[in-house]
Amino acid sequence: MELYERLPVGDEPDIIEQAVPARARILELGSGVGRVTHPLVRRGFTVTAVDESPEMLERVRGARAVRSPIEELELDERFDVVLLGSFLVHAPPQVRQGLLRACRRHVADDGCVLIQREDEGRQENLPREREIPGGLIRMVSSDLVRPGVRSVHVEYVFPDARWTQTFLACPLTPEAFELALAEAGLAVDAYLTDDRTWVRARPVDSRP
Ligand SMILES: C[S@@+](CC[C@H](N)C(=O)[O-])C[C@H]1O[C@@H](n2cnc3c(N)ncnc32)[C@H](O)[C@@H]1O
Repeated sequence: MELYERLPVGDEPDIIEQAVPARARILELGSGVGRVTHPLVRRGFTVTAVDESPEMLERVRGARAVRSPIEELELDERFDVVLLGSFLVHAPPQVRQGLLRACRRHVADDGCVLIQREDEGRQENLPREREIPGGLIRMVSSDLVRPGVRSVHVEYVFPDARWTQTFLACPLTPEAFELALAEAGLAVDAYLTDDRTWVRARPVDSRP
């Protein structure tokens, strides 16, 4: 928890703000402690923050907080923007489809879904580190545990503290990513950043 509260926000709010209408209603899936939520609220967006962790959600301020697994979310509302950040789309295939279908269920017909995906090569040439204000994030290793599934080991290093995290990630080629979107009733509208990590998708006619 303390780790999440320490991680500074980067350019995510800028990318999001430039990609969506001003003052849009945003459904943020997997909000954590509000690292991205809070800057979005300050910029005039109305945010509904969803997370399965009550400890995370109780730190969210200025947004409606909904505790739920994303896959099971059934809100009686459609949003201008659904946000699936933090590379959650790289969950194993069955979970990934549950996440994308939740995006599709909650986006307005004229709305959009913003997804943060890994650029290819992110898990090559390891270890690799990048500085963040007050510390650094080191991607230590990424090992294939079964076909299509990698175990990724990351360290967060600050002068007074250090955390490690290991999580499973399923790399997706752009083609596989777009196919997964199509299966959920979504289609790429635009890649928003040069590295193609941020994507704006739109709902297609048929709901899955
Ligand atoms: C790595 S944290 C990132 C939090 C936030 N998006 C950020 O950028 O700071 C991922 C968050 O997503 C939540 N999460 C992951 N999978 C989830 C799921 N299937 N349903 C609900 N919450 C989920 C976790 O509880 C955690 O708070």
